[in-house]
Amino acid sequence: MCGIVGYIGNEETCPILLDGLDRLSYRGYDSAGVAVLNEEGKLHISKTRGRLENLGHQLEQSPLYGHIGIGHTRWATHGEPNDVNAHPHFNNAGNIAVVHNGIIENHAQLRKQLTEQGCEFISQTDTEVVAHLLSTLYEGDMKQALLKATKLLKGSYALGVVCEQEADKLFCTRNESPLVVGHKDGKGYIASDIPAMLSHTRDVIFLNDMEVAVLSRGGIEIVNEAGEPAMHELYHVTWDLSNAEKSGYPHFMLKEIHEQPAALQKTFSPRNSADIHDHSWLPFTPEEAKALRKITIVACGTAYHAGIYGKYAIEKLARVPVEVDIASEYRYRSPMLGKNEVFIAISQSGETADTLAALREAKRQNAKALVICNVVGSTIAREAGDANTLFTYAGPEIAVASTKAYSTQVETLLMIALALADMRGTLGEDEIKALQAEIAALPKKAEKAVATEEELKTIAAEECRKGHVFFVGRGLDYALSMEAALKLKEVSYIFSEAYASGELKHGPIALLEDGRLVVTAVTQPDLLDKSLSNIKEIKARDAQVMAICSEDLKDQVAPEVDRLITIPGGDDIVSPLLAIIPLQLFAYCMAVARGCDVDKPRNLAKSVTVE
Ligand code: G6P
Repeated sequence: MCGIVGYIGNEETCPILLDGLDRLSYRGYDSAGVAVLNEEGKLHISKTRGRLENLGHQLEQSPLYGHIGIGHTRWATHGEPNDVNAHPHFNNAGNIAVVHNGIIENHAQLRKQLTEQGCEFISQTDTEVVAHLLSTLYEGDMKQALLKATKLLKGSYALGVVCEQEADKLFCTRNESPLVVGHKDGKGYIASDIPAMLSHTRDVIFLNDMEVAVLSRGGIEIVNEAGEPAMHELYHVTWDLSNAEKSGYPHFMLKEIHEQPAALQKTFSPRNSADIHDHSWLPFTPEEAKALRKITIVACGTAYHAGIYGKYAIEKLARVPVEVDIASEYRYRSPMLGKNEVFIAISQSGETADTLAALREAKRQNAKALVICNVVGSTIAREAGDANTLFTYAGPEIAVASTKAYSTQVETLLMIALALADMRGTLGEDEIKALQAEIAALPKKAEKAVATEEELKTIAAEECRKGHVFFVGRGLDYALSMEAALKLKEVSYIFSEAYASGELKHGPIALLEDGRLVVTAVTQPDLLDKSLSNIKEIKARDAQVMAICSEDLKDQVAPEVDRLITIPGGDDIVSPLLAIIPLQLFAYCMAVARGCDVDKPRNLAKSVTVE
């Protein structure tokens, strides 16, 4: 949801800002803009609707020169994505410029007050109030103006500010939207996310809510909301920028699908011990595990689908009831968390506003709250605390459609299920050893699943003009189908929906007709007969069936379907982790065949920091 960057130093600022924005464009790509202070300390702004390339062309025609600037890439919330609503926004004197990620919730009230004070608004955005507000609060010190503004602004914001009055400084502040700052060799950087500054510095500071940072060529001054100096530890980034580059792949989505074997390995290794009873990575004592009465999993989007897998796995292996909810629903339905219950939030980015709010609600109720998260230093991980955060080690995920993060979330949930099963005594030692061996074997098998790409490319070339695609499955295959349907609709814009196979006959079957494509996963041997019956029902309505099935079930499934993709066999609880890979590839190949912008699908953003 919008990305902001800022630079102060002695180099030309525009190329640095554009490079940073390029690395943040997964956060939104409706418009882009920069504000630059030139050598004379005069502020100039260039902004335009559309992708970052448009801004690049505009700056080639009319360059802006200077050594201090801020930049923005937008995911529109308030106001259509046009030139005027593009950031940076500025005050009427044109000497203060602001970029913003988040939503100012009291913008209407502030707009009214500021208008009464004589400010003239030109955009429909919530952000413009910040520029006018700072202008009215400014009394010779932008740091103080920002401290006052943080007390008046309601909602979420990461703000970058430059002004002519203090043309040798770069200012920023945040509340509930991410912001990192860094400084090296007389140059300062601000950004919504680390990749935007990683080619300049590996040592970054995560600002806390309501803190204000003032960056100059000499260093960074950070104060808390009371204006007192705030102490921060430097976080040293160990991962490489190549993780956030395409490395020869045509799209990030394809690269990230291919990275799944390694991501599964990295997420499993630190939690795998020769002693199968060593669960020290999981913040549960055996007593807590035994006393567990319920687990509530809350997440959004793909992470929510991982949560549904978690329900099946934990209930089956550890015999604990699990409730899964969509974060935006959970937080507004007066949830209750009782004694001996545990709350788990899942979030790739660690910034999703609704998931964060759900976590806060769980903490407010004093529940034991864990998070599964992919981004170190993210708000959700920091609020849960290191001890309660289980990191997935998928590495930076750039494509808007989540793939490797999903796999590692599912794998982590499986490991939780297994550890709880051991502590609660619901599985025997041999069963636990066997399942651990299955997880250990996943990376090798996942490589084989990735190798289905060519087959899926061929299928996509023939099927890519289909108007609607249904995904069906039973048990864990249904959980998987939900994610597969989301993947396809996200990247290819084909209407796709998932149904529990048994529910087909209660309505959706009315939509089946000659040529309709139905995709089904068949990986659960105990549900095989039922799944085959459902496939027959679909075929009887002249629909086409494409199945993803485990090698072990191939002989039974092949005669019943029109197209078959096989994945390596294994325990039924592990198979969905393999079956999702061809389904992700299917979505990817369909999107490419349809000429869609795979990594940046229309209207979407990767990090949803608004409700
Ligand atoms: C957005 C992304 C999805 C993601 C969801 C939840 O909608 O486009 O890919 O699954 O947010 O994000 P999170 O970072 O909390 O997992």
